[in-house]
Amino acid sequence: MNFKNIIKLTAKDMKAVNNKIIKQLHSKVNLVNQISNYIINSGGKQIRPILIILIAYALKYNNMKHHVTIAAIIEFIHNATLLHDDVIDKSILRRGRTTTNVVFGNAASILIGDFIYTRSFKMMTTINSLKILKLISYAVNNIVEGEIMQLINKKNPNLSMERYMRIIYRKTACLFEVSSQISAILAGASKCQEKSLRYYGRYLGIIFQIMDDLIDYIPNKKIIEEKIGNDLRNGRLTLPLLHVMCYGNSYHTKLIKQIIKKNNSKLIIKVVNAINQCNSINYIKNLVLVKAKKAISYLDCLTPSYNKQALKNLIHIVIKQDY
Ligand code: FPP
Ligand code: MG
Repeated sequence: MNFKNIIKLTAKDMKAVNNKIIKQLHSKVNLVNQISNYIINSGGKQIRPILIILIAYALKYNNMKHHVTIAAIIEFIHNATLLHDDVIDKSILRRGRTTTNVVFGNAASILIGDFIYTRSFKMMTTINSLKILKLISYAVNNIVEGEIMQLINKKNPNLSMERYMRIIYRKTACLFEVSSQISAILAGASKCQEKSLRYYGRYLGIIFQIMDDLIDYIPNKKIIEEKIGNDLRNGRLTLPLLHVMCYGNSYHTKLIKQIIKKNNSKLIIKVVNAINQCNSINYIKNLVLVKAKKAISYLDCLTPSYNKQALKNLIHIVIKQDY
């Protein structure tokens, strides 16, 4: 099952999710509508809401009312974080389009991010579940902490792999984890299934961010050039660089230390050479495969179904970046 098949499998519910998104983004303040439209039409992959729908059906659930709302809430939170992230990262392209911060300015981006974020909390009140509210608050708080940890470690050549893993858990994996767990809760999963699916989401999210960090260093025609060199320009040491620092020789270590101090993405060629010489891509791909095996093992709590198969395939789609 490829990503197109997964989109087909979830199409009916995702239509309801997107209708909810359109309805809930509406505001009496026109700039909100203008920017919201720009975001809605930007063609995101919508992996998190798709994940929520897949898990619900994998648990044989068929009353999707709250799932649709939760899927829209999670997509809102994700988009709000991206609006803020593109300001912080000074990004000019996202999903192949000029970013909101470039088109409408930083202030508007931050404020629309705040609007979408606060609207998601308003929507949460309709779910009427303290447990779900706690999980979402936990995730959002972790995302911000992860971003702060990343900021503190900007240009820090002593960042350890363990700390990197903690950062990506917080900034990315946590929202996948909580999305999966909430979907399980709403579908009436057993405690054991709830825990397993929570871990499935966590590993999916970790793989997602490791791959996102890897493609910053592999120029590939399928992947839009927008990502190349972004992390380097932002002084961000991600797994490819950390691997070179750990397993490269003294020349490599010195090179990365020097380059990370400069905000110059043009030096990327030297970094890509070091990454190749240290076999970092292979190391990362193997690491990701170990995590994939773990993620898939957590699906043992589900009985066989198309949706279970889709959840399994989703892991490999993320690894291959084959959307
Ligand atoms: C993308 O990472 C960004 C995130 C995973 C989270 C960003 C979160 C914030 C800036 C906090 C926002 C807070 C609230 C309350 C809305 P990336 O830059 O590695 O990935 P990219 O390549 O997609 O930009
Ligand atoms: Mg970014």
